[in-house]
Amino acid sequence: MSRNILAAQIKNNKRVLLAALLVLAPTLNVAYAGTTELYNQSCVTCHGAAVLGAPKTGDKAAWNARMKKGMPALVNNVKNGYKNMPAKGLCSNCTDADLANLIELMAK
Ligand code: HEC
Repeated sequence: MSRNILAAQIKNNKRVLLAALLVLAPTLNVAYAGTTELYNQSCVTCHGAAVLGAPKTGDKAAWNARMKKGMPALVNNVKNGYKNMPAKGLCSNCTDADLANLIELMAK
């Protein structure tokens, strides 16, 4: 195989890779925006300002105490409702994975 052909092939592969990235990038963005959107639709009402004793978003100390229970226990408590928090934190469409993403977002 001559050098020129090889060089041309590498160039082509780069183009394919770039095209793939351009196609994938918006998908990755949507996944992230999804969690933020769900947060803004449901959790922010109480967790945005520690309403009713909710651990406030971004309050690491408050969240660390909760995170010790482990993610599965936290997801379960949100699903079933917990003390002053209504079931699913008012996000009726949230899946377990959504709830785990939301908890991570708030605990950061
Ligand atoms: C109506 C208010 C309200 C909404 C809406 C709400 N929460 Fe809460 N949440 C609370 C309160 C209050 C607590 C603290 C309960 C306690 O320990 O007394 C809490 C606690 C939690 C905890 C800790 C549970 C534990 O076991 O310690 C998690 C996790 C949580 N919320 C997640 C969420 C998520 C995710 C959403 C959005 C889908 C959400 N919450 C929406 C009020 C709310």
